[in-house]
Amino acid sequence: MTATLRQMTMDDLPAVMKIERDTFPLDAWSEGMLRGELDDQPRTRHYVVALVGEEIVGYAGLFAAGDQADVQTIAVSETHRRAGIGGAMLAELLAEAVRRGAQSIFLEVRADNPEAQAVYDRFGFGRIGVRRRYYEDGTDAIMMKKDLNA
Ligand SMILES: CC(C)(COP(=O)(O)OP(=O)(O)OC[C@H]1O[C@@H](n2cnc3c(N)ncnc32)[C@H](O)[C@@H]1OP(=O)(O)O)[C@@H](O)C(=O)NCCC(=O)NCCS
Repeated sequence: MTATLRQMTMDDLPAVMKIERDTFPLDAWSEGMLRGELDDQPRTRHYVVALVGEEIVGYAGLFAAGDQADVQTIAVSETHRRAGIGGAMLAELLAEAVRRGAQSIFLEVRADNPEAQAVYDRFGFGRIGVRRRYYEDGTDAIMMKKDLNA
């Protein structure tokens, strides 16, 4: 399955919000939050969607300012996982962070999300700390970092 990536626009929000709600039923971002992110694109944000044919099957977003960047979000619809799409989007976010001059990139991931942690491990992120009970349901957040200038 080959996916193509392109920049996310406001027109993509209905399809993106469907994946968002399916993927994060307990703590989905609102459409307004995502609009706010896109409003700041390209200044401090870079959001991409992944397409298989005409269908949006995933999306990911980067925050970048100064020498630091963050992975804001990443999701692939359940039926399209383990096909390299999440990895392709993460690679694009890392490349954009480098293009923007970031020295390091950070993210937070739920302690009970081994799938996402496996992706981040594979891309060379290391664990730098834990935020106890960071999420509303009491789950810890694991903070991860990758140096981009190595
Ligand atoms: C995390 C997520 C985006 C990964 O997307 P994906 O398209 O399935 O990832 P890829 O197919 O590119 O996987 C890249 C590599 O990560 C690792 N990986 C991914 N999913 C994995 C899993 N379920 N178990 C173990 N390793 C996994 C593997 O090393 C994989 O490479 P391989 O398939 O060649 O072995 C996807 O699982 C998802 O949408 N999860 C729900 C949302 C979420 O948790 N987002 C992150 C919030 S911090």
